[in-house]
Formats: sequence, C-alpha cells, structure tokens
Amino acid sequence: MNSIVERRMIVPNMHLLTIEAPDIASKVKPGQFVIVRANDEGERIPLSVADWDEERGTITIVFMEVGASTGALACLDEKDTVSTCVGPLGNETEIGNFGTVVCVGGCYGIASLYPVARALKEAGNKVIMVFEARSSYLIYWVDRYIKLVDRVFNITRDGSLGYKGHITCLPDVIHGLQNPPDRVIVNGCTFLMARASEMTRGLGILTVVNLNPIMIDGTGMCGVCRVTVKGKMKFACVDGPEFSGHEVDWKEFLARRKAYLEEEALFFRRSEPKQAVHKEVKCQYES
Ligand code: FES
Repeated sequence: MNSIVERRMIVPNMHLLTIEAPDIASKVKPGQFVIVRANDEGERIPLSVADWDEERGTITIVFMEVGASTGALACLDEKDTVSTCVGPLGNETEIGNFGTVVCVGGCYGIASLYPVARALKEAGNKVIMVFEARSSYLIYWVDRYIKLVDRVFNITRDGSLGYKGHITCLPDVIHGLQNPPDRVIVNGCTFLMARASEMTRGLGILTVVNLNPIMIDGTGMCGVCRVTVKGKMKFACVDGPEFSGHEVDWKEFLARRKAYLEEEALFFRRSEPKQAVHKEVKCQYES
C-alpha cells in the first residue's frame, strides 16, 4: 500500500498525485512508468512518472480522468492509499547531446516530458518545448518549463494562445527555428503522437513517441501491450515505451486502444450516481 501525500487537480480533468514510493523514487529514470491500481478490484493503469524526490521517497504522476479506472484514482485523496504502485517499468529515454530537441507535450504528456526535458538540458541540448492543447486554460507547468528550457511555443485549437490549430502546425513551429531540430519527442494522446509523427516524417526528423497501450503486468508476461513497430511485434512495456513514431503501426495501435470503449461507456451508465460522489477535490490550477 502506498500513501498519497499530495493530490491536486492541476487543470480541469487533469489530476496530480504524489505517492510515497521510496524504492521507485531511488531508481526511476526519465521516460519510465509505474503501474497503479486505485483499489484491489481496479484495473492496472500504466502512468509515466512526471517527477520524483529521492529524499522524500515520493513520485509524482499526472493523469487525465477518462474512464472507470482513472475515475476511481481521481476519487482518492491525501492520506488514502493506492493498492498497487509497481515500478519503475520500461526503458528510460535515450539521453545524449543531440543538439536541438523539440519536445511536444499534450494532456498528461506535458507532465511526463518534464524529467525528459530536464535530462536533455543537463546533457547540453537546446530544448524547445511545444505545448499542445484544446485551449490555453488546459496548459499547465508553464512556469516550470520556462525556467528549464530554451524556448516555449504553444499550439491551441481555439487559438487562445500561440499557433491556432492542431498539431498540424508543428512544421510551422519547426520552420520558424533558426536550425532544424535533431530530434522531436512527443508525449500525449495517441492522436497527437500519430499526427505529430506524420508531420515530421516528411521533414526527416527522428521522432520519438511514448506509447501508452492497455497493460496488465508491465513486465512482458501477458502480451496485452503488443504493438507493431517496423513490421515486428513488440511489447511496449519491456521493448518500449518509447519507439520511433515513423515505425509504429498507428492504425492497429488506435484500434487496440479503443478495444474497451463500449465497456467503459456501460460502466459509466450503470454507476452514474456513484461516480458523482467525488471527494472534495482541491483545485489549484497552474499557469
Ligand atoms: Fe503484459 Fe506488456 S503489459 S506484456
């Protein structure tokens, strides 16, 4: 059992949990993830580690409430415990002095990219952060990133901040840079990663994505997280979670991600009154 020491909603529907997990905090590296269960009956949710504090023995995860399991996790409060918190899992992000790296973060990916951007900066790279969101009020951790990276861009679908449009604006951002980037790293929803990879393919820029398939054990035993990369079957939990976005079979990946949509919808319909009883959530929206 791991206790929750901090719990906040950082933007609407996006939750931050800081969990006591000293063993994980002492070993975790950028790009790795944990598997969390809100309760004993809960589904296992793979979540990237967004930050950690080795001294306090804590890790921080940020997730979007999208279904039954993330809904149960969002109902927990400080001093509650999660039944399972296993990790660190997966391979760490490849860090080196590549030159210029563009990090593109949307949704929970803004948070999961934070330790990656930090490690890239420490390795001597010029790091450009691109926030992608439906609207400016869904962008968070801007202050943190401004202190860390060399430049920040925003893409919002409603045009409330920065470029107006979807991730299809990424080539405009890239063309506006002094030199073309040496690699692009994208974290966020499947659609964002797939489209961003499409955008960079023609530009010939290596693009790394962090896949988030359905997982069970997270250790290569069950095969649930299989993805096709460069025509070969890979397990995202042990071979990834990061792959070249130009080599992922996105059509198959999207279909597998949607496998339980109907069950999720049915769950919400049956448990509507229960779902409504969220504990009072501390909302501290961040700039
Ligand atoms: Fe079971 Fe990857 S989650 S093999």
